[in-house]
Amino acid sequence: MTTEESSAADGAAVAPPGPDGLPLLGNTLQLARDPIGFFDRIATYGDVVRYEVGGLPFTMVFHPEQVERLLVTDSDLVRKFQFEAFGGNEFAPEGVLFTEGEQWSAQRTLLQNAFTLERIERYGETMVGVAAEHADRWATSDEIAVNDRLSELTVEILARTLFDLDVDGRGEAVTDVANAINERGDPRSLSKFFLPSWVPTPSQRRYDRSVTAFENLIDEVVSERRGADDLEERDDLLSLLLVADGPDGYRHSERELRDQLLTFLFAGHETTSLALTYTTLLLAQHPDVCERLRREWTDVLGGDDPTPADVPNLVYTDRVLTEAVRLYPPAFAVFRTAVEDIDLDGYLIPEGTNVTLPQFRIHRDERFYDDPTAFRPERWTDEFGEELPEYAYFPFGGGPRHCIGMRFARMELKLVLPTVLRRLEFDLLSDPEPELAPGATLQPAADVRMRARPPE
Ligand code: HEM
Repeated sequence: MTTEESSAADGAAVAPPGPDGLPLLGNTLQLARDPIGFFDRIATYGDVVRYEVGGLPFTMVFHPEQVERLLVTDSDLVRKFQFEAFGGNEFAPEGVLFTEGEQWSAQRTLLQNAFTLERIERYGETMVGVAAEHADRWATSDEIAVNDRLSELTVEILARTLFDLDVDGRGEAVTDVANAINERGDPRSLSKFFLPSWVPTPSQRRYDRSVTAFENLIDEVVSERRGADDLEERDDLLSLLLVADGPDGYRHSERELRDQLLTFLFAGHETTSLALTYTTLLLAQHPDVCERLRREWTDVLGGDDPTPADVPNLVYTDRVLTEAVRLYPPAFAVFRTAVEDIDLDGYLIPEGTNVTLPQFRIHRDERFYDDPTAFRPERWTDEFGEELPEYAYFPFGGGPRHCIGMRFARMELKLVLPTVLRRLEFDLLSDPEPELAPGATLQPAADVRMRARPPE
């Protein structure tokens, strides 16, 4: 037993174990070279592991009980990790994803009004309509990059449902900014760990250009909407933010409005498009699962597209999506920073340490999932769900900062998947196990290419 282990046994909190790193660089190179392999490697040190990236101290936590503690039970021991620590991040600092304290709470209360079950059910028809239009278009192409096409589809759904906005000719500004955000978040690019954002690297220039184009688009949209005669009667999120008062008369400033739109357009389309991309990728390799899905759709939907009323009956569809998101959680990790010293299972996490809670790794832990890397929708029986420890599955985070768009996303996934796959079958043309690039979200490193054709 080492000195550290013996003092842990005595009850005093000690530094967690972790891999050796280089002076100054810490573990940055290991992470940059192979981010997914790095997660796997450090998991071998235990459930609480320290590492260092870009000169900053990190701890990765691999046990659901500790995840629950930091996200739910003791969520006031941590705050959101500010990505500015990595070379400066001006991504929507005044949007609900990054604000804290009273500002966050007032924003969240106001925004919550756009996500009631009733409203989300109202969005259902648009979700299905947009998916049908897009799928019909793909049927005439020889080969498509599924990730790009699904991203266009989910941008349009988000813009039309939440902002009542026609993206015709404008969608590119949104997908460009999403790509630039991901490129900047990609741990394989070392410059972001060490260079401040005013250094004009090519990726920084692309980011600045696309954010400016996007902000111009937002300003245009906001001023159009402000001038709308029926602003008071409209019930989309943008109109709501322009007219509604939050707690104590809270109103969004111009900057908050911009950042909120940027936040929702990014967080609300990129994540669902990735969930659909990975589901399509897995289904293209599992014809048996596809067949069972089609049987469910025939039974439940007859020959029609789904409606929100059908969703509770799409039980197998739900299992397929749950399993796909387990294997490929679009938000692959949640990040926090300790606001005071924390004793985590006998390990000391000093104030200021950044804490990583990796869905990607915990969702593939054999302590909780048999044959964890296999795609087995059948595992998701009611009994399995009940016995699984809470936070062994947490694609939408948890606690007060859990995903505000969770219901919206679940509805969208369950409506879009049958709408698209009733019209098309996909043959996979690219790598069945694509290299992954965990940036701001869990991107495939290269396009997922498929041929789309009408079902036989
Ligand atoms: C499969 C789809 C989605 C996944 C996997 C996902 C995942 C997550 C996760 C893990 C968090 C928590 C982050 C943290 O605690 O640091 C989060 C927060 C958030 N998500 Fe989602 N999300 C999805 C869809 C959506 C959609 C459709 C929207 C909007 C329409 C959305 C908007 C947000 C926002 C605004 C937050 C910040 C909430 C806050 O801090 O109060 N997400 N999401």
